[in-house]
Amino acid sequence: MSKLIAPSILAADFANLQRDVEMVNASQADWFHIDIMDGVFVPNISFGMPVLKAIAKHAQKTLDVHLMIVDPDRYIQTFADLGATILTVHYEACTHLHRTLQAIKATGMQAGIALNPHTPVSVLEDIIEDTDLVCLMSVNPGFGGQSFIETTYKKVKQLRSMIDTSNSNCKIEIDGGVTDKNAKALTDAGADVLVAGSFVFRSENPTQTIQNLKQIVD
Ligand code: DX5
Ligand code: ZN
Repeated sequence: MSKLIAPSILAADFANLQRDVEMVNASQADWFHIDIMDGVFVPNISFGMPVLKAIAKHAQKTLDVHLMIVDPDRYIQTFADLGATILTVHYEACTHLHRTLQAIKATGMQAGIALNPHTPVSVLEDIIEDTDLVCLMSVNPGFGGQSFIETTYKKVKQLRSMIDTSNSNCKIEIDGGVTDKNAKALTDAGADVLVAGSFVFRSENPTQTIQNLKQIVD
């Protein structure tokens, strides 16, 4: 399966959001990665439903929504109504994770689990077959532009072997500090989807940067 690139809209120019969404539409990017933060689960607030609605109006690709919020069950139906394709919740924010994943899938969305850098992949052993995507955080969630945490490689390999020995088609996504320097090593270790925020949107030519990332991981 070809590897996927998901530009993170958190790093877009919010005063030119339509322009940046159209750039991603016209590029070789595969998904839109959308970060929702509540200022409680993470020490930052990004944007909420009205902004996601505006993005969804123009976006022509998969909407990969990453919730960094406490008690995400409250908003599952809302995100389905807004057009999310994949809804990812944090392991650390869900007491009844199995129930949460079932509720996400009942709406027709795909269900993802994100793990903070300190959370071992072994906690997923009994839920991996119910999961469509695991998002391994390679920075502490809350902000774009942070440096990649190197222990992520070990986690990707462990998760790859867990998925390969299970009945799961779950994808592995890497989120945080992805650049042209670590992209190839990450997909070689078994990652399927690379999120890239600052590296894409802070570059001189984001369309070209996305194309380069696609080529590197191909
Ligand atoms: C961090 C977010 C990431 C962020 C990645 O909390 O989940 O998706 O946008 O940004 P970069 O690629 O700049 O590390
Ligand atoms: Zn994210």
